[in-house]
Amino acid sequence: MWYNTKATEMLGIQYPIMQGPFGGNLSSVELVAAVSNEGGLGGYGAYTLTPQEIFEVDKQIKAATNKPYNINLWVSDTDAPAGGVGDEQYEHAKQLFKPYFDEAGIPLPEKPAPFKSRFENQLQVIFDIRPKVFSFMFGTLPTDVLEQCRRLGIKSVGAATTLDEAILLENSGVDMIIASGFEAGGHRPSFLASAESSITGTFVLLQLIKEKVKVPVIAAGGIANGKGVVAALALGASAAQIGTAFLATDESNALPIHRQMLFSDAAKYTALSRAFTGRLGRGINSRIARDLSHQEKSFLPFPLQTQFMSHLRKAAIEQQKWDMILFWGGQIAPILKHKKARGLMKSIIEETTEYFDHLKA
Ligand SMILES: Cc1cc2nc3c(=O)[nH]c(=O)nc-3n(C[C@H](O)[C@H](O)[C@H](O)COP(=O)(O)O)c2cc1C
Repeated sequence: MWYNTKATEMLGIQYPIMQGPFGGNLSSVELVAAVSNEGGLGGYGAYTLTPQEIFEVDKQIKAATNKPYNINLWVSDTDAPAGGVGDEQYEHAKQLFKPYFDEAGIPLPEKPAPFKSRFENQLQVIFDIRPKVFSFMFGTLPTDVLEQCRRLGIKSVGAATTLDEAILLENSGVDMIIASGFEAGGHRPSFLASAESSITGTFVLLQLIKEKVKVPVIAAGGIANGKGVVAALALGASAAQIGTAFLATDESNALPIHRQMLFSDAAKYTALSRAFTGRLGRGINSRIARDLSHQEKSFLPFPLQTQFMSHLRKAAIEQQKWDMILFWGGQIAPILKHKKARGLMKSIIEETTEYFDHLKA
């Protein structure tokens, strides 16, 4: 059967369909459970959570499903040297964004406090809770850490945006690699070269990686239905990771307006921007992303830019100034149809099965 792949075997799931984890509080236990209970692999993006919060979420997931699921972290979660930013740089960023804060009628925030990486403490929780799958992005992990995952029965999955990153991930000892194409919604998880110079589409990247690495590869970016899954499998993927289509379902933790935007005409126009977090990410194009597209060097480093923009985001939501927000989403959004995660899963499985049955007939 089409759904018996190396990935389904390794992960202990029925269908090679993974729900892409969403960081920044957009994941939900309900969505993870819905996808895992339908035979796919639900994923929870936990990089902004404290260790205690990860424990809590994990408990809730375990209560909602007895199937395998994935917890996701960011290996590198700050670009700020020594966690902070100089006064001069902060003043510069303030001047750049002042017109938008003025428009929203809110004061410019104080300089954000230095940020301390959370990853080490979060990783310890992964060892304690032992999810079936631990996926990560923005880097690789030392071989002994990946060894420890293996000893604990945790499958490790790293994300690559280039062939070089995939080779490095394989050499580190990951169990699987996500080929993350530029079509995808959310951040570009590049870690060797800049995200701007790591812009390869999913189906090219997948084929390049398949030629050179032996571990199973998961295609991510621009897949939202059975046809996309068929194409990914035909090009050698062991599974497809689907983000935007699941983000748009009622079960995700996206704001209702965010889901509405993904189903609107606006979703035809996405852009990669650093203006909202300091790292390059894809969302539905907005006025601020357009206005500041050539000012990328003036933004604060991740995650200080996120903290800085959170004030504007809050005011923009209250005042319904939607063009001041970047609603995350990938290039495939205009073809989305499903508002329920179960319906989406069933439709992907049916469409893929029909295609393979048709081939046999
Ligand atoms: C809003 C949003 C947040 C995301 N956050 C993460 C994350 O924290 N960690 C991660 O590995 N991938 C993250 N991703 C990537 C998805 O898991 C998935 O690989 C990607 O969305 C697939 O491409 P698609 O959006 O075209 O379906 C995010 C994607 C979106 C849309």
